[in-house]
Amino acid sequence: MSAWFDLAGRTPLAGNGVLRRLACHRPELHVWAVEPHAACTLRAWIADSERTQAERMLHAERRRMFIAARGALRMLLGHYLGCDALSLSITRGPHGKPSLIAPAGAARLAFNVSHCEDRALIALGVAGGVGVDIERADRKVDAALLARRCLSTAEQRRLEARPGAQRAARFLRYWTHKEAVAKALGAGLTLDFRTIEIDLDAPEQHVVVCDRTGRAEVEVFEVAVGASHHAAAAVCIQSDLDPAAAGTAS
Ligand SMILES: CC(C)(COP(=O)(O)OP(=O)(O)OC[C@H]1O[C@@H](n2cnc3c(N)ncnc32)[C@H](O)[C@@H]1OP(=O)(O)O)[C@@H](O)C(=O)NCCC(=O)NCCS
Repeated sequence: MSAWFDLAGRTPLAGNGVLRRLACHRPELHVWAVEPHAACTLRAWIADSERTQAERMLHAERRRMFIAARGALRMLLGHYLGCDALSLSITRGPHGKPSLIAPAGAARLAFNVSHCEDRALIALGVAGGVGVDIERADRKVDAALLARRCLSTAEQRRLEARPGAQRAARFLRYWTHKEAVAKALGAGLTLDFRTIEIDLDAPEQHVVVCDRTGRAEVEVFEVAVGASHHAAAAVCIQSDLDPAAAGTAS
């Protein structure tokens, strides 16, 4: 089995005006931000099948963000692995999580992507699964309804103790943390988010996720993306969960 890739010092793309590397709590995780205006530059990096997929998208903003995110992902993967970006094959797990089919002899590199209308984040990691989530801070959410579906009883109480005007933003911070955990595990929305307990005051958290197939440990932390967005990233430390059987969290 090939060794995990050494990310140390791999920052030469920073400051090229297309991608921006964000400060991240863990040195073994690299988080890159990409904005839709980068689509023109990054179009050259996407595969023909992705170009066809983009052309089918009717919504211009969504199309630009898709091209920028896919182009940035291939550019980064090719750069980190020293491979031709267009030759890289991406496969999907049982709940749709994309992962790289490492080219022969290449090191293993985990990644995850999240996008909202005007920004995408790409997380690259060297160990286990990685997950990332970004949401616009002005996203309209029914915090009371979603809190009942996604937050534990203790989290709901802490949310209700906040002034009404702060609740949507707080909910979105809970959400990005939980989604980053779920994405690190590849479970997507099949995981019961109420079973993931988040302390928003902790800079980094160790979360234990259990279901009938096993147990996983994940580190999750906030990513600073500016006041306009909320974001979080997660790294799976160990997991013997069966992603194909997810959905039975207890
Ligand atoms: C698909 C899902 C994993 C993320 O969806 P999302 O938040 O809408 O979108 P994001 O931009 O954060 O993530 C999408 C990307 O995650 C990746 N992804 C897809 N399935 C995944 C999975 N099971 N695990 C990890 N990553 C996954 C893909 O790269 C996808 O991008 P692509 O479709 O362009 O390839 C899933 O959790 C979902 O549908 N979430 C619902 C979102 C929602 O209801 N939000 C309301 C919150 S207020």
